[in-house]
Amino acid sequence: MTGETGAKTCRAVAVGIGHYLPERVVPNSEFEAMVDTSDEWIRARSGIERRHFAAEGETTSDLGIKAAQAALDNAGLTPGDIDAIIVATSTPDLTFPSVATMIQAGLGMRHGFAFDVQAVCAGFIYALSTANAFILSGQANRVLVIGAETFSRIMDWEDRTTCVLFGDGAGALILEAGDGDGSNADRGILAVDLHSDGQFRDLLYVDGGVSRTQSSGVLKMEGKEVFRHAVEKLAQTAHTALDRAGLGADDVDWIVPHQANLRIITRTAQKMGVGMDRVIVTVQDHGNTSAASIPLALSVGVAQGHIKPGDLLVAEAIGGGLAWGSAVLRW
Ligand code: ACO
Repeated sequence: MTGETGAKTCRAVAVGIGHYLPERVVPNSEFEAMVDTSDEWIRARSGIERRHFAAEGETTSDLGIKAAQAALDNAGLTPGDIDAIIVATSTPDLTFPSVATMIQAGLGMRHGFAFDVQAVCAGFIYALSTANAFILSGQANRVLVIGAETFSRIMDWEDRTTCVLFGDGAGALILEAGDGDGSNADRGILAVDLHSDGQFRDLLYVDGGVSRTQSSGVLKMEGKEVFRHAVEKLAQTAHTALDRAGLGADDVDWIVPHQANLRIITRTAQKMGVGMDRVIVTVQDHGNTSAASIPLALSVGVAQGHIKPGDLLVAEAIGGGLAWGSAVLRW
């Protein structure tokens, strides 16, 4: 293990993880009656077998509150112990206030501060990076970082190229200020890498919004183009973040990728030189839950006993914007 050692260094350390998935499970076969598709096509091209859809009236904040409660229970903490809530979402209950303040109220929390981050599928990485900065600057001691989405609300149910790919859910991670020695053997976030390039904004977008249409709109995607960018940019950002931490692919215990498409996940791992036996894969059960997919995969990976204390994780994601990024953390 390499890296500088020396005086005490503040690290944002993961102390609790949890998730919530809506009760309704929708198998691929349900889409066969809606659009010209098949279970075989969806499995072969995306790796998705089923996804969860929120019930009527069930909102993004409802999912987020349940995931947050699960993370608090996992950490043995109460809302009184949390200083800030950051929610990554592109499917808020309302245009405002933020989903984060709704979750704050739902948890009965009257102190601290709460806000949303919107970077579509890369949202959780952006939220994690923001929470890390708050902790390292001393502005917060414990931050609840949530990815929560109801993408079923922005689907075009007549567009077979998109409606079969997405699902609803929420995952929550609690980060706490801890002491490290400044080396990459420390627990906590060791490096982050963020990028966006708005010239690609038309590859993946929702065709409605407050300012332009006064409606919420539906998702539009140039799937092939997004795929091409994903494979190229995800391995690149993961390498950059690992390099920043003074680590390489051989040091990685688990890649925790954004779960959009099994073929993207597999090719990214190949490019990174990491075997699929070191990749957490949940896309078959969740579909693409956008900003919720990484905390969901983390939570499932921990619950199934794959991710253990001390493991080195690389999380990476790309989505609308395009916006992409990665984080290296020791669990
Ligand atoms: N069922 C059956 N056929 C379909 C379906 C479907 N559901 N969808 C598309 N097809 C057809 C197409 O019409 C096309 O037919 P054609 O050859 O007659 O024109 C054929 O299947 C092949 O379509 P492609 O788009 O070339 O299929 P591809 O292998 O590229 O897979 C997919 C499509 C799954 C969308 C893939 O491109 C992908 O995963 N892209 C990336 C998505 C992604 O990662 N998004 C990330 C961020 S999401 C966010 O930020 C919100």
